[in-house]
Amino acid sequence: MTTTSTNTRREGYYDLEVNGETRVVLDPSLVTMGEPFHDTKFKAFETLREGRRMMMGDDPRLVKMPEKPRLLDFFRFRLAKPAINHLLQSAAKAQRSGQPEKIVMACLVHDIAIGGLFPGDHGYWGAQLIEPYVDEEISWAVRQHQAVRFFADESVGYSYPSAYTHFFGPDYVPPPYIQEAYKAAHAHRWYMSARMITVNDLYAFDPATTVAIEEFTDIIGRHFRQPDEGLGFDNSPVAHMWRAMIWPYNAL
Ligand SMILES: [Fe+2]
Ligand SMILES: [Fe+2]
Repeated sequence: MTTTSTNTRREGYYDLEVNGETRVVLDPSLVTMGEPFHDTKFKAFETLREGRRMMMGDDPRLVKMPEKPRLLDFFRFRLAKPAINHLLQSAAKAQRSGQPEKIVMACLVHDIAIGGLFPGDHGYWGAQLIEPYVDEEISWAVRQHQAVRFFADESVGYSYPSAYTHFFGPDYVPPPYIQEAYKAAHAHRWYMSARMITVNDLYAFDPATTVAIEEFTDIIGRHFRQPDEGLGFDNSPVAHMWRAMIWPYNAL
């Protein structure tokens, strides 16, 4: 099988001018796999000299984060806008349909990894990211929505999303690990919490509906334990994952 990439601009690293000096930005390996420069991009290190160094620390293209970042700072300054809208709309839908605050909180962060880290397995990444700061049921539900959303539950009016037929084709079958995860989640006492994420998930982005993040300030205050040191600096097992969003292009 031969494949051709149409992405000819990139070679796995590029220059950024910062205060009259050059910072070389290295593409993370997750986005260069399969590209011819995946194995050669580290040549960037051989191009360095005075005034030309690797990118470390604040990236001028991004808003500088506060010293002690809080969840809302990541919403405001880091997550991709469509993902933020999607999260806000899902949380608003859950709230308006009378779901408990825990479910609203889960909806508010269920796709946080799509907006800030990676789309694949985003339920697992997202759950890990929030785990130290939320009730176990919330992170459990976020983790399980990864699998649960692929399976219908007519008892709550959830059908297989037509968007997925469009995204993945009519013949797409979730891999065995997802099917196993779904079976286990279905048998769990918190199954409905994960299911409610999928019920309130909006598979069609509605640009006409804007929801203000401030609507959820109180729920975040009650259900997300912000560390005093700030997300990324509390020495938790996931602090580095938040720092990855603060400084996404740190070279090493
Ligand atoms: Fe999701
Ligand atoms: Fe979603």
